[in-house]
Amino acid sequence: MSSTPPIVILTEVDRPAIQAHLLRLSSDDRRLRFFCTISDDGVRHYASTILDFKTTTVFGAFRGKDLIGMACLAKATSTSAEAAFSIDANERGTGLARELMRAVIRRGRELKLQKLCMSCLRYNTKMQALAVSFGLDLKLDFYEAYAELGFPAGYKLQTASVPAMTEGV
Ligand SMILES: CC(C)(COP(=O)(O)OP(=O)(O)OC[C@H]1O[C@@H](n2cnc3c(N)ncnc32)[C@H](O)[C@@H]1OP(=O)(O)O)[C@@H](O)C(=O)NCCC(=O)NCCS
Repeated sequence: MSSTPPIVILTEVDRPAIQAHLLRLSSDDRRLRFFCTISDDGVRHYASTILDFKTTTVFGAFRGKDLIGMACLAKATSTSAEAAFSIDANERGTGLARELMRAVIRRGRELKLQKLCMSCLRYNTKMQALAVSFGLDLKLDFYEAYAELGFPAGYKLQTASVPAMTEGV
């Protein structure tokens, strides 16, 4: 697989690419991403209507015209937001989710959040390993894992900073 493409911020014009990316996820991956079974129609509804760019910053990476991975940072309260990630199956293991996590954390700082959260299913050890590697505090319950990162004054991203980002594509 070639190198990780640059991370960009997605906008309204990217809804078709977001839909196509999410439709490529298997039913198991959709469950990992959305915590429930979600049909093709459900994915279309999410991509066209539910995803709200006013409250959610969406980062993505393209290979050609295909959106191969994305991360949503959705405002939960005025001082906290929740992140969720998805990568095309054939693009995994190359560090793309790691780059998206960097972008999400940097954005969290820009938004002056006090807290960044991430939830995943308990058996999603890959997502948990990624969160922990960025210093998120992980808690497990029977079904879910919940991770959060506080941004104390003077917080510095522990890893190399994200490459310059381009608005839109
Ligand atoms: C979870 C997911 C986003 C990870 O994407 P990815 O691009 O493969 O992740 P990366 O290549 O950036 O790897 C990130 C980290 O995951 C961990 N990881 C990677 N492969 C792993 C494996 N097989 N087992 C455990 N941890 C693993 C490592 O910490 C890795 O960091 P490294 O650079 O030190 O190896 C991707 O598998 C996916 O889209 N899954 C389906 C949807 C989902 O689970 N979303 C999460 C809900 S928030």
